[in-house]
Amino acid sequence: MITILAANRKGGVGKTTTAVNLAAWLGRMGKKTLLIDMDTQGHLQYGLGFKKPFDKGIHETLKNGNILEIIHTTDFENLDLIPASINFDVSLLGDNKTLLKKRFEDSKIDEIYDICIIDTPPTSDTIIFNALSVGNYALVPMQTEHLGLIGVMQFLKIFYKMAPRINSNFKLLGVVPTMFNKSMKEHKVIIENLKKYVSKNRVFEPIRKDFKLSNAFALGKPIMYVDNRCRGSKDYKKLAESVIEKLNLK
Ligand SMILES: Nc1ncnc2c1ncn2[C@@H]1O[C@H](COP(=O)(O)OP(=O)(O)OP(=O)(O)O)[C@@H](O)[C@H]1O
Ligand SMILES: [Mg+2]
Repeated sequence: MITILAANRKGGVGKTTTAVNLAAWLGRMGKKTLLIDMDTQGHLQYGLGFKKPFDKGIHETLKNGNILEIIHTTDFENLDLIPASINFDVSLLGDNKTLLKKRFEDSKIDEIYDICIIDTPPTSDTIIFNALSVGNYALVPMQTEHLGLIGVMQFLKIFYKMAPRINSNFKLLGVVPTMFNKSMKEHKVIIENLKKYVSKNRVFEPIRKDFKLSNAFALGKPIMYVDNRCRGSKDYKKLAESVIEKLNLK
């Protein structure tokens, strides 16, 4: 199993949208995919049509418990969910950075799935460290705007310093510019500057702005199950294809 973290310390940049829609496409492409919501806001489950809070989520299970018991199948192809414990008090976890690693090892979950995508909160706390401890790659959604680029530069500085201390196998998969508008010259300039900063092969094709991506959350479905020809759907399909190619998963 390959584990990818949708991560960026900045809020509202498209982490959850990317986690849901990338995972749904990977599932459609035949990869057995698990989504884990590590953000106690618990938004991810809404994107999959689960409106009520679950009895138990990942945060309550971190200290002890079997994560296999909190997996929920979804209505979507090859796609399962481990939900968040909504409003869980993260301070209860102390600063133990390897709880999730232990849960992964005990359950042998990596023998069940091809890909695991973890949605992370816009914070740098115990939760992020735990996600880092099981991750192979970070995928960093960046809102295509000047402060988005500055935020990514700051985030990657911390990332390169912190990640090797927790997990020496952890790498940057790439940055995904989101909410891109090709008619705005500024957006193209921001992406060119990003390519100078992180190198060209670590910048994915941008995800264009598409209100249908927001609306898909209201409808409780990944975008491709709402409209598979809209911009958001096509762009996330392309992202899934690039991820499969980069990771040699064909
Ligand atoms: N490409 C896009 N086009 C239009 N709207 C988008 C796009 N991507 C995300 N959004 C919208 O932007 C908002 C923030 O997206 P999302 O919740 O995915 O960000 P996030 O990084 O997970 O936020 P948080 O840090 O709060 O967890 C949502 O309303 C979402 O529907
Ligand atoms: Mg989110």
